[in-house]
Amino acid sequence: MSWSPQSWRSFPIRQAPTYPHAAAALAAETELGALPPLIFAGEARALRADLARVAAGEAFMLLGGDCAETFAEFHANAVRDTLKVLLQMAVVLSYAARAPVVKVARLAGQFAKPRSALTETRDGTTLPSYFGDIINQIAFTEADRTPDPLRMLRAYSQAAITLNLLRAFTQGGFADLHRVHQWNQAFVAASPQGEQYRALAYRIEESLAFMAACGVDPARAPQLRAATVYTAHDALLLPYEEALTRQDSLTGDWYACSAHLLWVGDRTRQVDHAHVEFLRGVANPLGMKCGPTLQPEDLLRLLDALNPTNEPGRITLIARMGAEMLAAKLPGLIRAVQREGRNVVWCCDPMHGNTMTLTNGRKTRSFDRILAEVRAFFAIHAAEGTAPGGIHLEMTGKDVTECLGGAQRIAEADLERCYQTQCDPRLNGTQALELAFVVAELLREKRDLPALPTAAE
Ligand code: PEP
Ligand code: CO
Repeated sequence: MSWSPQSWRSFPIRQAPTYPHAAAALAAETELGALPPLIFAGEARALRADLARVAAGEAFMLLGGDCAETFAEFHANAVRDTLKVLLQMAVVLSYAARAPVVKVARLAGQFAKPRSALTETRDGTTLPSYFGDIINQIAFTEADRTPDPLRMLRAYSQAAITLNLLRAFTQGGFADLHRVHQWNQAFVAASPQGEQYRALAYRIEESLAFMAACGVDPARAPQLRAATVYTAHDALLLPYEEALTRQDSLTGDWYACSAHLLWVGDRTRQVDHAHVEFLRGVANPLGMKCGPTLQPEDLLRLLDALNPTNEPGRITLIARMGAEMLAAKLPGLIRAVQREGRNVVWCCDPMHGNTMTLTNGRKTRSFDRILAEVRAFFAIHAAEGTAPGGIHLEMTGKDVTECLGGAQRIAEADLERCYQTQCDPRLNGTQALELAFVVAELLREKRDLPALPTAAE
């Protein structure tokens, strides 16, 4: 049972790249191991404490960002725009629920992608699948698809730069609540959701002005002037995670210092395999994807392995069943967790169970099915008496056309206009805000709170 950052290496592993030159991989890992941590143990502990409040039903979690970050699509404006939408959504949710929103970005490290098929065949040629920019490249040539360990170093640099931007945007004035209007980007502002957001932003401004009149000095209220945004990604690439694992000098505990929260994917969560072995030993808050094949007894064994002391805030269970499957599968998991008295955050990923491939090969998701899964998630938790703790979205601040539907009524023919993802289809800024208003309404109803302002107000 002894654990070390490399103990995962003696366990069976899925979805792992085979580097052609072991010595080159070792050299890259050694170089990475000597670089500074990206996050600090105290921050990971703060997120754990925030998530403990979510587990207790006192706060809500918003986890969102790219399906996969890429080296080619890396721009400061893209980070800023995704952050804007996250801040907008958090304001809507927090205002409606009158509760804090724990903000976590799928950014600054979300590079590795698990794949349903490990290889891809085109015209009789079989090559490894594309596993994300941290592992290989998307072009279909042998050189591009061969895993290259140096890509871990580039991913680390990009993650460091992204995190620097996130820290600067959130702490340097951009996330000041007095700027709530300015997060509304032009293309979102023109939509009905953008208008409803504007009405809400006015109310917030009024409240801030009233508080100032009462003598609350914004300069002395850091909660109004800055936001805390944590980072998270799928801990798929264990050589990268191992190299960034550090022992905390205060507590002696080990932390994965690549992100605040790491999750284990639906394809790599076998209790006796390498990914669970690695994650059980780091003290970060952990996520676990729960797909329709997860059985209640397996879930309990995973919780035994990952959270033997049953600490609240340690585990976030991210259900991604698909709109149709959720009602059949989620109640059994919730009941097992309740029966055994386990502390977890329940989070809804309405994206990954609702992906479809069109006849032209495009992957997409329909906004209606995403909404249906979110609504079912809330209804099931209401029936079970448990807290619907959060949502997990693949989304971007850009005006892409990757998911169908929503108020913009994106149709199949529109997808080609701006389809940019290299992996899964994301909600665009308008669709993400629209979804936030729906979730806000569900939270408001649950707590029996007053209605949100409408666009006309
Ligand atoms: C993802 O979140 O991008 C992902 C691949 O999820 P899952 O492991 O749930 O399929
Ligand atoms: Co995805």
